[in-house]
Amino acid sequence: MTFPADLLTLLLRTSKLAALTGAGVSQESGLRTFRDAQSGLWAQYRPEDLASPEAFARDPKLVWDWYAWRREAVKAVRPNPGHYALVEIEKRVPHFTLITQNVDGLHRMAGSRNVLELHGNIQRVRCSECYAFAETWGDDGESVPRCEICGGLLRPDVVWFGEALPREQLEAAVEAARTCDVFFSIGTSGVVQPAASLAYAARNRGAVVVEVNLEPTPLTPKADFFLQGKSGEILPALVKAVWG
Ligand code: OAD
Repeated sequence: MTFPADLLTLLLRTSKLAALTGAGVSQESGLRTFRDAQSGLWAQYRPEDLASPEAFARDPKLVWDWYAWRREAVKAVRPNPGHYALVEIEKRVPHFTLITQNVDGLHRMAGSRNVLELHGNIQRVRCSECYAFAETWGDDGESVPRCEICGGLLRPDVVWFGEALPREQLEAAVEAARTCDVFFSIGTSGVVQPAASLAYAARNRGAVVVEVNLEPTPLTPKADFFLQGKSGEILPALVKAVWG
């Protein structure tokens, strides 16, 4: 795999890099991307119709079961070479911020340290009423488990459509985007705000924008470099080409 020489030189010199990842980064670990068709029991539902406060209010059991299914899928997978390449980049670039929309926790499992999880983490469960986190919960298969403290329904600690992102994480992500020299957008369709706007915030402040994706996205015409292909192949090759 060959890369433009000016990109390699730039990366070697950069001291501030930020990267935004999406579901495409975990695709090679065996997780379906958000907008891929669902399988089996869940094929009849659109993820957009399950990941919302309205869906939970309408049918909490359906939403709980969908997340329980996804939680099990996440438990069964491991990070892939794309995740590990981002760990290597963090070791080599003095200031590196990894911003992810993924709720699967695979970046941390791979060893990334400075990770901002904009959409939460599917392994964390909290009360939908009092916000208390639950470490354990009984699931009788019949009803949604309840909070031991206030009796409210438990829910995954992820951000649903229409909900606000965790404020500190979002502020840190915006700051990283606005102050970096190079911004990577990796494996994300770039259609969900506010994450999608981070690449533009970086670009407006003069950062070089590099996109890694299987296919073009709305960001592609604005990117300085578009590296088309699988992140699990491109990122390790890029790390090798820049840092040897
Ligand atoms: P999407 O499913 O929208 O997009 C996945 C992107 O990854 C697509 O652009 C694919 O072309 C690309 N892709 C797939 N496999 C790839 C691979 N091996 N290497 C590189 N790219 C690959 O997922 P996201 O952009 O993450 O939010 O979706 C953003 C948010 O939308 C999700 O976090 C979720 C959803 O709303 C919430 O649940 C709040």
